[in-house]
Amino acid sequence: MNRDNENAVLFGNGDELPSNHSQNPHINELIEGLGRRQVLAGGAALGALAFLGVSLPGSSEAAQATTQGLGIFKPRSRLPFTPVPVTRADTITVPQGYKATAFIPWGTPITGSYPVFLEDASNSAQDQAEQTGMHHDGMHFFPIDAQWGYGRRSDHGLLVLNHEYIDVNLLHPNGPTVVNGKRTSAEEVRKEINAHGVSVVEVRRNQQGEWEVLPSARNRRITAATPMQIRGPARGHVLMRTRYSPDGTATRGTQNNCANGYTPWGTYLTCEENWAGYFATQDTTLPRELSRYGLRNTSRFGWDTLAGDEFERFDATRKAADATGDYRNEPNHFGWIVEIDPFNPDSTPVKHTALGRFAHEGLVFAPTRPGKRVVCYSGDDSQNEYIYKYVSRGKFRPGSRANSRLLDEGTLYVARFNADGSGDWLALDIDDPAFQAACAAAGVSFADQGEVLINTRLAADVVGATKMDRPEWGAAHPDTGEIYFTLTNNSSRTTADAANPRIANAYGHIIRWRELSRDHAGTRFAWNLFLLAGPSSDSRGPNGQPLNADNILASPDGLWFDEDGRLWIQTDMSGSQLSSGPFGNNQMLVADPRTGELKRFLVGPSGCEVTGITATPDFKTLFVNIQHPGEGSTPSNLLSTWPDGPGKRPRAATVIVTRENGKRLL
Ligand code: FEO
Ligand code: CA
Ligand code: CA
Ligand code: CA
Repeated sequence: MNRDNENAVLFGNGDELPSNHSQNPHINELIEGLGRRQVLAGGAALGALAFLGVSLPGSSEAAQATTQGLGIFKPRSRLPFTPVPVTRADTITVPQGYKATAFIPWGTPITGSYPVFLEDASNSAQDQAEQTGMHHDGMHFFPIDAQWGYGRRSDHGLLVLNHEYIDVNLLHPNGPTVVNGKRTSAEEVRKEINAHGVSVVEVRRNQQGEWEVLPSARNRRITAATPMQIRGPARGHVLMRTRYSPDGTATRGTQNNCANGYTPWGTYLTCEENWAGYFATQDTTLPRELSRYGLRNTSRFGWDTLAGDEFERFDATRKAADATGDYRNEPNHFGWIVEIDPFNPDSTPVKHTALGRFAHEGLVFAPTRPGKRVVCYSGDDSQNEYIYKYVSRGKFRPGSRANSRLLDEGTLYVARFNADGSGDWLALDIDDPAFQAACAAAGVSFADQGEVLINTRLAADVVGATKMDRPEWGAAHPDTGEIYFTLTNNSSRTTADAANPRIANAYGHIIRWRELSRDHAGTRFAWNLFLLAGPSSDSRGPNGQPLNADNILASPDGLWFDEDGRLWIQTDMSGSQLSSGPFGNNQMLVADPRTGELKRFLVGPSGCEVTGITATPDFKTLFVNIQHPGEGSTPSNLLSTWPDGPGKRPRAATVIVTRENGKRLL
C-alpha cells in the first residue's frame, strides 16, 4: 500500500505513522564529513566494496561490458524489448510482442458454492469467503508437482496470493455503514474480514493455452478469521494469553499481508505488515509491545466497535482482571510470518514467532542447499525501521516433513550498515553476551527470548541497528547469492547516512549486499547502493548514469529475480508523485545487474500499485498483481474502470503476461 497519510483515522489508508523514537544514530552521526554528493557518486561505501571484492555494475562490471562492446562482438542484450513509455492510460501497457490479460479479479468464485461476483458489490460475507479477496499483493506459483518443494510443471499449479487490505467504498454497494463513529452491521464487517487474507487457487492452461481456474478441493480462502497456531519461542508466552487462547498458543486470522515468501520445502509464507491499525485501545498507558508498534485509540475500519467476541478481539483495552479475560494481548498475535501449506487445504496456518514481530513486508530466502542451515531476510516497512535476517539452527533436509521447524528454532539478527560499506548482523538473542551487554547499557530487560521477539523493534533499537527508508521487498540473486532490497521512500528522514543518502527521501533506492560467509549464516557483509530512483535530475541507475525516459521510476517496492538473474522492480508511488510527477502510473521495470541495463516493461492502470510477481518454471507465463486500481473511487465516481471496462467498478486482479509467439518471456 502507499502512504501519504499524516492523519490516519477510520478508513484512512492504514499506513502506520513512524513509531521509532529510539535514539539510534543515523550512520552519518557515526562518521564525519561524508557529504551527500560523495554518497551519490559512490563515496566511501563503493570504495569499501571494491576492497572487499564485490563487483559493482556502476563501475567494473559495466566498464567490462562496455569494453566488450567496443571489441569484436557486442554481447546480446538480455532485455531484448522496446521499453514502454511513461503513461497515465487506464490500462495495462506492455512492450510490442507481449500480451497482458486480467485474471482472478477480486470476487472470483473459487470454493464452496462458487458464488458469482455481483457487479453492484452486493455479495454477502459468506460469498466473499468463497471468492478471491480484495487488493491482491504478494503471490507465488507452485507447480502442481512441487508438493515437496521442487516442481517443473508449467501448465498446472497452485497460484497463492495475498489480499493486503480493502477499499470499503467499493467492497459494499454504497460504502460502509457508520453511526456516531461506530460500525453497526456485523454482516458488513464480516465481509471486510473475509476480503482479507490469502487465496489458494488451482490453475491450469487449457488446450487454447489460456489459464483457467479449476474447481478444486485444494482451492482455499484464508481470512482475517481463520484459526491459526502459534509456534516458536513466543508460543504460550504470558504476553500471548487471550480470552480466545488462555494458554497463548492459538489465534484467529492474518491481515495486511503485503509481500510474501515461499520456502524451499514447498510452502507459502504470508507476512503481516500494517496490522497495528486494525486494533484500538482506550488505555492511556500502553505497554512497550503496543506503544512501539503505534497502537492508537481508533482503528482503521472500526471492527472493534461492534459487540461480539469475533469483533471485540480488535479492542485491546484492558477490561478484565487478567489477560485471559480480554484482548489486551491480541495485537501481540500479529506482526509475524505465517506459513501455509497450499497443498493441504486442511492444514492450520502457523505463525512463526522466531522470525520476529514487526511490520513484515515479506520474507526472502538466500539460496538454500541440502544439509545447510536456511537463511532468510525480512524488512520492517515503516519509516526508520530495520532489516532483519534469520538463521535456522537445524539443517534443510529435502523431503523431510520437519523442515517447517527450521523456522521455529534459530537466531534473529538486525542489520547495521556501516559507512565504509561493511555491515554487521547484530543478534537479538537473550543468550548472546553482546545482546546482554547492549540491554544492560540501555537499561532494558527481557524475561526470556519470547519477550525479546514480541518486542523485536525495541530489541533492535537496543543493539543500534540502522534506521532505513522503509524496507520493502527483498530478492536473492540466483547465481551470486547477493541480496537486494527496495527502500521505497521516507518523508520523515531528517538525517542522511551512507545507506539512506537522501533527506526526506521522496524517490527511494535499492540497496544490496553480499554475505562474507559462503553459507550466508555469518555476521558480516558488504553492501552498496544498486540504484537511486527518481527523475533524471536526481537519480543514479545501475549503470552509474542518471535514469532516463526509458527507466525513470520512483518508490520501488516489489522486487524479484527471474531464474536467469534479471531483477524485476515494481513501483508503489502515491499522492502527487502519481498524479502529477514525471513517472506516470505505477510500473514494472527489469534490470540486468550484469550490464546495468534497466528498462520499463509494464505500466499499470490509473491509481493502481503494481505488486506481486511470480512465473512458471518455463518462463512462458509471468503473473503480476495490480492492486487498488482507481484508488479513491466511490461507486458514483470511478477513477478507473480496469479491468471490466466503462461503468464497472475497478477491481484488483492478477495479470497474466505472455509472449504473442508463445516463447519464453525473455
Ligand atoms: Fe504493503 Fe510495504 O507495502
Ligand atoms: Ca509500498
Ligand atoms: Ca501493497
Ligand atoms: Ca509493498
